[in-house]
Amino acid sequence: MKKFITFEGIEGSGKSTQIKLVAGYLAGKNIPFIVTQEPSGTDIGRKIGGILFNREHHDMCAETEMFLFCAARAQHVREIIMPALELNKVVLCDRYSDATYAYQGAGRGLDPEFIRLINDYSAMGLKPDLTLLFDLPVEIGLQRATDRNNLLKEPSSIDRFEREKIDFHQRIRDAYLSILRNDPGRFRLIDANREVSAIQEEVRKHVSDFINLQN
Ligand SMILES: Nc1ncnc2c1ncn2[C@@H]1O[C@H](COP(=O)(O)OP(=O)(O)O)[C@@H](O)[C@H]1O
Ligand SMILES: [Mg+2]
Repeated sequence: MKKFITFEGIEGSGKSTQIKLVAGYLAGKNIPFIVTQEPSGTDIGRKIGGILFNREHHDMCAETEMFLFCAARAQHVREIIMPALELNKVVLCDRYSDATYAYQGAGRGLDPEFIRLINDYSAMGLKPDLTLLFDLPVEIGLQRATDRNNLLKEPSSIDRFEREKIDFHQRIRDAYLSILRNDPGRFRLIDANREVSAIQEEVRKHVSDFINLQN
């Protein structure tokens, strides 16, 4: 049984919005599942996230950033993801290893081979079975993220990643598309520049097709 599904895409691409809606859909079908996210899927990961996202940490080097995300992933895989998969649950995960290649590789310039070594070790080689990539122009994603932050919290508290310039986010978008091109069987490319309901319809189709295929 292969049921590890990840949600990837730039800031504001609608990952968290869509994952919540799929969770409601699976709950309605009585399919056992969990929803989780990186890096904050565990208590330890939440604390690591506190270090990663703190905007006072502008001196953090790329290697530290990568090790911290991988440390959170090591805990997450062992404490949450593997146990859920062993119970045959569908795991819906908001960001995973692809984000490390996109952000710390293309974004921060780290060697992908170095990332592969550390990431594979941290993740016990666990790869997603299906990855939904939410793609849209960075300007639109960042505007959505800014509007969300204005609603949720003080605009001045935007995190270290949201503070990056547009070309950083453009590199992330391009990197995700390139990862998809290198592993087309695992990915579904979703045009995220549409209404929430239209995107959700497509997401449900991919998820339900995928789960049925395995049954
Ligand atoms: N398809 C959409 N069209 C317009 N706004 C959206 C859409 N999807 C999400 N949003 C809004 O955009 C913001 C960012 O969405 P979110 O799901 O938090 O993105 P992510 O988790 O990828 O950063 C939220 O305020 C959300 O309500
Ligand atoms: Mg989110």
